[in-house]
Amino acid sequence: MYKCFDISVDSRNVATITIDVPKRPLNVLDRCAMEELHAIVSDLESRDTVRLVVFRSGKESGFLAGADVSAIADIDSPDQATDLLIQGQDLFARIERLPMPTLAVIHGPCLGGGLEWSLACTYRIARDNSSTQIGLPEIKLGLIPGWGGTQRLPRLVGLPESLTMILQGKHRSAKDAARIGLVDRSIDPSMWETEVDAFIQDILDHPESARSRPRQSWRHWLMNSTRIGRGLVFRQARKKIRNKSKQYPALSSAIRAIASGYSSRVDGFAVERIEFAKLISTPTCRRLLELFFARERARNVKTWSPETGVAMHDDPIRKIGVIGGGAMGAGIAQLSALRGFDVAIKEIDERSAMMAKERIDGLIDELSARKRFSAQQRDEIRGRIFVSTDQSRFADADLIIEAVVEREDVKCAVFTEMDHTVKDGAILATNTSSLSVDRMAEVVKRPAEMAGLHFFNPVHRMELVEVVRGRKTSDATVAKLVSLVRALGKTPVVTSDSPGFLVNRVLFPYLGEAVVMIREGYDVSIIDRELKKFGMPMGPCELLDQVGLDVALHVAKSLAKTLVDVEPVVQQLTKMVDDGRLGVKSGEGFYHYIGGKRTEPSIVSDSTSAVCNFEDFVTDGLTNIQRRLVYPMLSEAIRCYEERVVEHPWAIDLAMVLGTGFAPHQGGPLHMVDAIGHPRVLQNLCRLRSICGNRFAPPKSLFASSDRGRTFFGADQEQSQIDPVRT
Ligand code: NAI
Repeated sequence: MYKCFDISVDSRNVATITIDVPKRPLNVLDRCAMEELHAIVSDLESRDTVRLVVFRSGKESGFLAGADVSAIADIDSPDQATDLLIQGQDLFARIERLPMPTLAVIHGPCLGGGLEWSLACTYRIARDNSSTQIGLPEIKLGLIPGWGGTQRLPRLVGLPESLTMILQGKHRSAKDAARIGLVDRSIDPSMWETEVDAFIQDILDHPESARSRPRQSWRHWLMNSTRIGRGLVFRQARKKIRNKSKQYPALSSAIRAIASGYSSRVDGFAVERIEFAKLISTPTCRRLLELFFARERARNVKTWSPETGVAMHDDPIRKIGVIGGGAMGAGIAQLSALRGFDVAIKEIDERSAMMAKERIDGLIDELSARKRFSAQQRDEIRGRIFVSTDQSRFADADLIIEAVVEREDVKCAVFTEMDHTVKDGAILATNTSSLSVDRMAEVVKRPAEMAGLHFFNPVHRMELVEVVRGRKTSDATVAKLVSLVRALGKTPVVTSDSPGFLVNRVLFPYLGEAVVMIREGYDVSIIDRELKKFGMPMGPCELLDQVGLDVALHVAKSLAKTLVDVEPVVQQLTKMVDDGRLGVKSGEGFYHYIGGKRTEPSIVSDSTSAVCNFEDFVTDGLTNIQRRLVYPMLSEAIRCYEERVVEHPWAIDLAMVLGTGFAPHQGGPLHMVDAIGHPRVLQNLCRLRSICGNRFAPPKSLFASSDRGRTFFGADQEQSQIDPVRT
């Protein structure tokens, strides 16, 4: 009789409430599920024969992904937010007060509202496999948990642990959750149903001893049960968020809500509601919600290939061939094997093959330690990868990813050979970061099945993959690659085949400007500090050192024809590379490194020569240093949209946030241009051009949009008002 729930009662009088929200790959607490759960709880409140209520999911994909984010995004007033929060808080409070004990049986994601529901239960158990994620990720949307999470989690796992989980939005595995007392038992997947049943019986037989009580240290007692200890924990938490709290107001809100739970004078749940309602209309929350939906859109095949989205499911990619087992090839192979694909790698000779194998084994060991895989799980992943020097294993591959050295002649030779080796219909993809896909497509007989698949380094950590559509790449090929990227757990953005694609092209003017400023005598650490204050995860000099100055030089050269005034950057980087200063890997770049750890800058600033004539700018919320470095990214992002390197403005923003960490609270470079205002950006760019030169020349479309009052994100996120400029 319910749409989202199934209810059964067994001979022991144990009621099982199974949630299975229709037409959703993962359960979410949408309006229908909430209303039905209210009704079920009302019914349970009067059932005195039921001895235990078990809440679990009917979907293999997991327990519950949280509240419905679209419903959150639709909230348009603090009052509406408060109503929604009261509904959820009230529902979970009633579950907590039910006359019989309750048990949440968790597998897969149990996030946000899912965990808040579980926290209201008497017991929780979780399946111990890698898909189980238990956490409160609201902070990633610029919000705080609003259905009691800030109140119940600290009581269950203690203050320090809950602050980490809530402020960082980090989830826990089943084992970790059991260790900190968040769940009562973590269960081996092979024993899942038997152990769930045994636990149920345990509750019926010995309700008190079924609950886990992790041994608490005196430190735990001090930090949670004494006023002094708690004060210390809150002070440390406030100190940690100090530099970010203006950009991310949810951080301070979360601390206030958690702290209020320890005060006898205020109602912590009410404070949680008030803080949440304040956050919902902040620009940070709106930008982060937009990024959330942008990610969803990017992961939908139909966004990029409306016609072929459905057909490609009939013929998915199963076996992947990788050519070159270096840094990128090994990363791609490890990721693909982790996600269940069979992978064959070809290296150039036996010695390189052995090194590639060692590299991959190392990556898998690291991953297994991080994810706490068993030896058997680790060996299964290893068993899916075969490294050799021969290509016979490629005959039945559905996709070949080339990741050999960045030289067009070598790559073309590889593709000519592969074109003869692999079966008809197999896709050929290059991981090049700077060469033309179209040029490589000229040497094969299947240009429609040829594309770029640009992974970022390190593969396991970087969420973005640029799918590069060559002039002749077919829609079906794009659709298959977009699906593959999704299956690998990454987010695809489709770009055209233009130098640097999107991310490197937009990022480079920023990195190049930092190099120019250092030549002018600016201080390396001041530049980095300013950009971190702006919201970048690391400064441009640190980033150049991480990427490698030789790699940056390569990118600079490849972009020399597309961008203005690259020559001084090429000269400076060439000089540093010739001196053996390659960045972290050589122990010296813009900074010195000892054992991979950054020490002091290796370039001494000559601040007297730095040009300081930076006046007459219209206000845009940036300092002079930030403006000089960020505006080149804004300009280049606008140009990429003018040229339709990427079709949608939201996708340009998403790619920059995922590929470079571009200040997420700003929503991406094009959102930032809209927020500052096109005429202001134009005026400041003209001023920068008069001081620094033509590389700051404003993009053509900025004149038009400033004139006509147009924006990238008008009323409709999908529909930019800015016309393409065909170049
Ligand atoms: P790498 O130098 O670490 O690895 C290249 C591997 O290819 C070596 O193991 C080499 O033995 C092998 N190889 C060379 N010629 C071969 C051939 N004919 N047949 C089979 N194997 C061959 O290079 P890395 O860093 O992995 O880069 C590979 C590609 O990925 C390049 O196109 C690069 O531009 C691109 N890329 C690199 C990124 C990075 O940060 N390293 C980021 C994104 C793309």
